[in-house]
Amino acid sequence: MSSVDVPVALLGYGTVGAAVHRLLIESAEDIERATGHRLRVVKALVRDLDKERGFALDSDILTTDVADVVHAEDVALVAEVMGGVDPTSDYVVDLLSAGKHVVTANKQLIARQAGDLFAVAAKAGVQLRFEASVCAAIPVIKVLRESLVVSHVHRVLGIVNGTTNFILTKMEAGHDYEAALAEAQTLGYAEADPSEDVGGDDAAAKMAILATIAFGSRVTLADVQYEGITEITTGHIQAARELGMSVRLVGAATIVEDKVDVRVGPALVTSTHPLAAVDGAFNAVMLQGDAIREITLEGPGAGGIETASAVVADMVSIVGTTGTGFLQDDPCWRSLERLDPGRLRSPFFLRVEVDDRAGVLARIAERLADHDVSVARLVQHQRDAGAELYIVTHESYTGAVSDALVEIADLPETHGKPSALPVISDRGIAKA
Ligand SMILES: NC(=O)c1ccc[n+]([C@@H]2O[C@H](COP(=O)([O-])OP(=O)(O)OC[C@H]3O[C@@H](n4cnc5c(N)ncnc54)[C@H](OP(=O)(O)O)[C@@H]3O)[C@@H](O)[C@H]2O)c1
Repeated sequence: MSSVDVPVALLGYGTVGAAVHRLLIESAEDIERATGHRLRVVKALVRDLDKERGFALDSDILTTDVADVVHAEDVALVAEVMGGVDPTSDYVVDLLSAGKHVVTANKQLIARQAGDLFAVAAKAGVQLRFEASVCAAIPVIKVLRESLVVSHVHRVLGIVNGTTNFILTKMEAGHDYEAALAEAQTLGYAEADPSEDVGGDDAAAKMAILATIAFGSRVTLADVQYEGITEITTGHIQAARELGMSVRLVGAATIVEDKVDVRVGPALVTSTHPLAAVDGAFNAVMLQGDAIREITLEGPGAGGIETASAVVADMVSIVGTTGTGFLQDDPCWRSLERLDPGRLRSPFFLRVEVDDRAGVLARIAERLADHDVSVARLVQHQRDAGAELYIVTHESYTGAVSDALVEIADLPETHGKPSALPVISDRGIAKA
C-alpha cells in the first residue's frame, strides 16, 4: 500500500502539543500500518517563538499568526492543544469553517460551546473530536459513541479529577488537607492555583461532556451542580473509614423519570464499589446501561503524553474515517429536561454534632422520619463537648434530606452545621 502524506497543524506547542508531535514522529510506522497515512506536523501556533521547546523543530513550523494555520491549504486536520476559551473558540470556528477537521483536548471549550461548534462542523462537513478533553488517556468518549451506540447508558459515575483523588487518598493515609495539597503541588499533580481542581470546576466540565455524549442531549457546564473538596476534613475521612467507606469526589450523571441530573461533589463510596479502589491521581468512569449492566474504565486522567495519546488517536480516527460519514454529526439527538435537583435519590451519610442528652437521638430520628428519610446505620462517638453522630440513611430524596437537616440544625441540642454526603453503593446500602 502506498503511503499518503497528511500535513497536519497544531494550535499550541506546550506540554500536550510537543508530546503530540513526538508521538506522531515516533509512532509514524504504526499509524501508517493502521491507516496507510503518514501524519506530518507542518505548522504549530504559539505565543512566543523564542521559548525553549526541548525538541528539534524545523524553523518554519512555529508561528504566532493563526492565519498561517487557518489558510494553510495543504492542512486538512488540526489539533487544538492551546487551551482556554478565548480566543481558542474563534480559532476553532475559523478552522472548521475553512473545512478543516479539528481534534481538541479542551474540556472548558467543549463543556461550554459544543453545541455551536458541532453546528459549524456539521455545516462544513468536517469532524470535531474531543476524546482528550475527558480523562486524557481513558478512551471513554469513543466507547460511549461507538462501542455503546445501542446500549442506552442511563448512569455515568466518575472519578474524573486526578488532583482531588490524589489529595483524598493522601488524607486517607493520615495527611491533613493542606499537607496533601502541598504534596500534590510538589509532584506536579496540582497547579500553583489549584482552585479549578479542588473547587470541582474541572470535574464539572468533564461530567457535562460525558452526560452529553452518554444521553445524547446537550448538557453544558451551567447545568451541572457542583462542589469540590475544600470542606472535607480528616473527620469525614475517619467517619468514612469506620463505616467501611472512602471519601471520593464523584461525578454522577443520571437519567431519572426521563430527565437528566448531573452533579459533582464529595461522596462516601462503599469499599466494595469499583470507584473506591481508584487510588492517587488515577481517574475512572463507570458506565451503567441496559445491555451492558456496568463497564468501568480506569487509567491516567492527565499528563502530557497520556493526553497526547488520545489526541493522536482522534487524529488517526479522522484520517481513517474521512469520507465515510461515520460520527460526523452532532452527538445530541434529543433534548432532555433537567431533573429538579431535590428529586435525585441516594443513600446519604449525615454527620451531626449534638449535646449528649437523653432524647436527642429520638428527636433527630423524628425529624428524618417526618421527611421519609429512614436510618440504615448509626454510629455515636462521645466527644468532650457532647457526641458526634454518623448516620447512614436508606435511599432518600436529596431535597428531603436537605429539609430534614435544616430542621435538625435548628434543634437546640445541635452544634454547628450538620453535613450530608451521598453514599455510592451499587451493591445495596444494607450490605455496606
Ligand atoms: N497537560 C495535561 O496534563 C492536560 C490533560 C488533559 C487536557 N489538557 C488540555 O490540553 C490543552 C493544552 O494543555 P497544555 O498542558 O499542553 O498547556 P501548555 O503547556 O500551557 O501549552 C499551551 C500552548 O498553547 C500556546 N498558546 C496558549 N495561548 C495561546 C494564544 N492565545 N495564542 C497562541 N498560542 C497560544 C502556548 O504558547 P507558548 O508555548 O508560546 O506559551 C503553548 O505552546 C488544554 O486545553 C488543557 O486543558 C492538558
